[in-house]
Amino acid sequence: MGKLFGLIGHPVSHSMSPSMHNDAFRNLDVDHHYQAFDVKGEDLEAAISGIRALGIKGFNVTIPHKVNVMKFLDEVDEEAKLIGAVNTVVNKDGKLIGYNTDGEGYLQSLLKVTGQELQQMKTLIIGAGGAARAVFTVLSRYGVSELDIANRTNEKAAILASECNCGQADVEVLSIEEAGERLNEYDLIINTTSVGMSPHTDHLPIHLKNLKKATVVSDLIYNPLKTKLLLEAEGKGATILNGVGMFVEQGALAFEKWTGVAPDRHNMENIVLKQLGGF
Ligand code: ATR
Repeated sequence: MGKLFGLIGHPVSHSMSPSMHNDAFRNLDVDHHYQAFDVKGEDLEAAISGIRALGIKGFNVTIPHKVNVMKFLDEVDEEAKLIGAVNTVVNKDGKLIGYNTDGEGYLQSLLKVTGQELQQMKTLIIGAGGAARAVFTVLSRYGVSELDIANRTNEKAAILASECNCGQADVEVLSIEEAGERLNEYDLIINTTSVGMSPHTDHLPIHLKNLKKATVVSDLIYNPLKTKLLLEAEGKGATILNGVGMFVEQGALAFEKWTGVAPDRHNMENIVLKQLGGF
């Protein structure tokens, strides 16, 4: 019998997850279905009870519930606890277990560009929200040895640096301006803020005047596919990476947790790109 999976968030009407997962289920030749549910903050607890009652086998969690959902689960995995957010839940015989596949998804997409050299790349993370916590946690765990963080609100960056450094990374907390002045020190620059996201596509999270050519510049945003940050970085000879790979990987890792099967990442990526109008 087909099993039900889903997504809870608000809003969810533009989510690409249903088409990505339903296509992967069809390719597996199983009768499972993935459904997006629009759940407002005040209805979150009731929604989780409903998921238990209906026997939904697994679900993703998106904005604004990634933090609040944790208190309604039976167990939260260690890395998700460090990150402080859950984006994937597995219903294991009635027990709801929370994971975070955003960080690992990002790491997998990044490694395709950097290879093993990543550990030696001096890295700057811009932003200190949930996405930054996921990225910082996995990069420090992976062994990136120099990991700086710049954010509009300095205190948030300092808290992140003290809570999420699960490796032995050497960390400096900087203002955005300071980081911009010292940009030529970095081999890898990662924007985790929403600055530059559609419809505000003419905004830049940091000035690139001091960017060196051999840098990898990565933006977690996938709409547009090339933010102003990536366009300018590419113009200066940098290698660029957008957020499509992370989105696909976080979904593929969730799919693996639910089904035990690795989905075809290329199919997933094609579906996402089609939906984004990329080809
Ligand atoms: P997410 O879960 O996507 O990371 P979030 O937790 O709301 O979202 O974090 C948003 C991040 O983008 C924060 O680092 C935020 O900076 P503040 O900590 O100072 O709020 C950053 N951000 C959002 N809009 C910004 C803007 N216009 N300029 C600079 N930083 C911005």
